[in-house]
Amino acid sequence: MIIRPLTGLIGAEITDLDLNNLDEASFQALDNAFAQHLVLCIRDQSLTPSDLVGITDRLGGPGETPYLTGLEEYPDVVPVIKEANESSPHTFGAGWHTDFTFQATPPAKTLLYAVDTPAAGGDTLYANMYAAYDALSDGMKAALKSLNAVHSATRSYGPQATLKNHLEHMTITNDDQEPDTQLHPVICMHPVTKRPALWINPTYTIRFENMTQEESKPLLDYLNQLIISPQFCCRVRWQPGTLTLWDNRCTQHCATSDYQGHRREMWRTTVAGETPIAFA
Ligand code: SIN
Repeated sequence: MIIRPLTGLIGAEITDLDLNNLDEASFQALDNAFAQHLVLCIRDQSLTPSDLVGITDRLGGPGETPYLTGLEEYPDVVPVIKEANESSPHTFGAGWHTDFTFQATPPAKTLLYAVDTPAAGGDTLYANMYAAYDALSDGMKAALKSLNAVHSATRSYGPQATLKNHLEHMTITNDDQEPDTQLHPVICMHPVTKRPALWINPTYTIRFENMTQEESKPLLDYLNQLIISPQFCCRVRWQPGTLTLWDNRCTQHCATSDYQGHRREMWRTTVAGETPIAFA
């Protein structure tokens, strides 16, 4: 296996690895690379939905995926599809976020496999939330350490959400009623690396606990902007057969809506996570 870092702080491209024939030593090496680089872009795979389910199982087993509809035979595999003839350029995941932080136990990892990609465009960007935490002043770290944030699916999947209107070839079911909220620490400790991450995102984090949205917004905006500073980000350019695996416990990501008129099909699974814990 060849591992080439994509940037100084996040992401690595992996070649010369066959995910369908992964011995224990290679699996361990992949796991170590994952802890170090947070996002692994594994090239030249040839996967069926069943293979993807097998890899997801090996990584810890599937997470719960409400709102999105999976393949009939493989409900944990969600097709993320934009057809060439769609009227909206808006692609799924086109806003910085960490997957499903509105859940009590959000996914630990996400796998996204490229089936069909535009010749150019449709890249996915990733940001390192450990690095964002490390960049904070001691005073801000101390202030944030005692805070929890309220996460909700309302903007994407609430009764008024319009995301699904832009995604003609995905089956998305919005909540009829205002979705439940979840409280998570603002500074979470990664369960494997034990490193602190600044764990908020602009899609699902709606406010700080015991504060209004208006009061929370300036600081959330500042922190979300810090997380996506260029030096904390990498960009994955897809090609058919690329599988990218990312760590939801320390990253945000964002898809780009720049390929209208071209087809893109991905298969997505998540790996079940743990209850996020505060960094003490
Ligand atoms: C996602 O946010 O899960 C999908 C990202 C992408 O399609 O690039």
